[in-house]
Amino acid sequence: MSVSAGEAKVALVVGNSDGIGLAFTRRLLAEGWTVVGVSRRVAAIESDRYAHHVIDASSPTFREALTAVVPARVDLCVYCAGIGEAFDPSDLAMDATTVRVNFEAMVSCAAAVIPSMVRARDGHFVGLSSIGDGVSSDAPAYAASKAGVSSYLAGLALALRPKGVFVTNVRFGFVDTKMAKSPVKPWMISVDQACDVLARVLRTRPAVRSFPRKMAALVWLLDRWAALRLSLS
Ligand SMILES: NC(=O)c1ccc[n+]([C@@H]2O[C@H](COP(=O)([O-])OP(=O)(O)OC[C@H]3O[C@@H](n4cnc5c(N)ncnc54)[C@H](OP(=O)(O)O)[C@@H]3O)[C@@H](O)[C@H]2O)c1
Repeated sequence: MSVSAGEAKVALVVGNSDGIGLAFTRRLLAEGWTVVGVSRRVAAIESDRYAHHVIDASSPTFREALTAVVPARVDLCVYCAGIGEAFDPSDLAMDATTVRVNFEAMVSCAAAVIPSMVRARDGHFVGLSSIGDGVSSDAPAYAASKAGVSSYLAGLALALRPKGVFVTNVRFGFVDTKMAKSPVKPWMISVDQACDVLARVLRTRPAVRSFPRKMAALVWLLDRWAALRLSLS
């Protein structure tokens, strides 16, 4: 099915068959947006303002496949696709896939939508990084992929703001989805609360939004401690 944009604002949500992406797609549709969704599985959404495309972000042809389905006008793009596995020192095979899905595919997604936003001098690109975008011995590839996301989006935000395009890096702590696998999940928020944060981000369009802030502060301190240990080792 294809969507006809009409007067409704058009959003592209990548990684929306589950978790935050699925819930936020439903929120956007309830608020009258037209939405195009992308993930490997079909999202359980029925709306005449919704179209889904099954595309694997880890595929080497992701950018071409995405470009082929991106509507002519995209007002908002939210990149939610993400994977994260605990580190297994005997098998690092998944690490490259984690970096590909979480970071490289987000860069490909930006390449597919941002040029038309720049031409229109309008648009908002939102990426989901993580408060855990520092150094992690539990999940080095996940942390590195999110460090890449945070750094890239910060640069894009600075470069694109004068061109009328807003870029936001959203850094969540723990959100109650299947992604939150850690046995200890301090200050975990619900998917609904995560959607509230994203909804505020759409209104205020900051360059970076970390939530909850107290967790961001704690992890910032732990990152400084890790940096000190590394410099002394
Ligand atoms: N939950 C947390 O605690 C938390 C905290 C901080 C940041 N985040 C970030 O928030 C984002 C969303 O996480 P979530 O908690 O909503 O996770 P989730 O419930 O596991 O959902 C992940 C989504 O990404 C899609 N996805 C995964 N691999 C994909 C691929 N190769 N190609 C296309 N789509 C793919 C999945 O769809 P398919 O499997 O159908 O492809 C799914 O819709 C992620 O980037 C995550 O790192 C989450």
